[in-house]
Amino acid sequence: MSSIKRIAVFTSGGDSPGMNAAIRSVVRTSIYHDLHVYGIYGGYDGMINGKIERLELGNVGNIMQRGGTILKTARSKEFMTVEGRQKAYDSLKAHDIDACVAIGGNGTYTGAMVFLEEHDFKIVGLPGTIDNDLYGTDYTIGFDTSVNTAMRAVDKIRDTADSHNRLFFIEVMGRHSGYIALHTALASGAADVFLPEIETNIDEVINHLKLNAKRGKLFNLIIVAEGNKSGNATELSKIVQERLPEFDVKLTIIGHLQRGGAPSCLDRVLSSRLGYSAVEALMAGKNGIAIGVVNDKIAYTPFHEAIHGVKEFNHDLISIAKKLAI
Ligand code: F6P
Repeated sequence: MSSIKRIAVFTSGGDSPGMNAAIRSVVRTSIYHDLHVYGIYGGYDGMINGKIERLELGNVGNIMQRGGTILKTARSKEFMTVEGRQKAYDSLKAHDIDACVAIGGNGTYTGAMVFLEEHDFKIVGLPGTIDNDLYGTDYTIGFDTSVNTAMRAVDKIRDTADSHNRLFFIEVMGRHSGYIALHTALASGAADVFLPEIETNIDEVINHLKLNAKRGKLFNLIIVAEGNKSGNATELSKIVQERLPEFDVKLTIIGHLQRGGAPSCLDRVLSSRLGYSAVEALMAGKNGIAIGVVNDKIAYTPFHEAIHGVKEFNHDLISIAKKLAI
């Protein structure tokens, strides 16, 4: 018999498509097991300020297909303080909540880990971020949708770039991570890609473009992750335009478009599996872990490891993208 009677769920950090499907899954699985389930509105800030409400089946009807998060989200400064976390603990206790499911990225996991070091409580985490940069899961909630959004945007840019023989620099999200950039580049047949994880030599890119120009190819797409170390798309496009005046260089920053929209089938399935597994894990007495999917199996990773572990970049994908871009 599980000692858990009341579970709360919240979303924190940047939103990602599929968070609603995960909330729905946590709520439905809890109700299936006759547990009371609560929503915390506005992430850790909502926890501190007691914005906690009981959720019933009706609260999660018709949300599976919606992007964003019905529970809202925030990045809380107050939760970074001992006093803030104490207030959060007091408000969870005031609602008799035994355990939480935290949906978010690295910052969300860090908050949960520190909280558990100070308080006798139970929290498990689900990977909710478009960036796919969390250790302990092959994919994060929202990555698939986001990369499909970016790919479709690039397809549209490709049409006009081709018509006008233009060189486009296209910036995608990823402050610390190049997953979105690499997948978008490979899926859109980009001429080159700039990632935060790997140094891309601008001279090599320029030579590549010159070779393309020699064979009459002036239309090229270059994908840049926003966190690329040698410059963002705006900076790189200026450098390249100066060095290659024969090219007609244009710039597009896709931006927050990538964070919204209806979640893809893959994201809905991933979120449903993870939300279900979170409740099952709490009922089985698990605590302080991030739940993910590795090799298509549910994987449990202690918060400390999930926060500090570095997800291996798939270098094969980079090599394939470069070779296909000859
Ligand atoms: O959700 C992750 C992420 O999309 C990063 O790739 C990006 O740098 C960041 O969030 C931007 O978030 P915000 O505009 O909410 O600060």
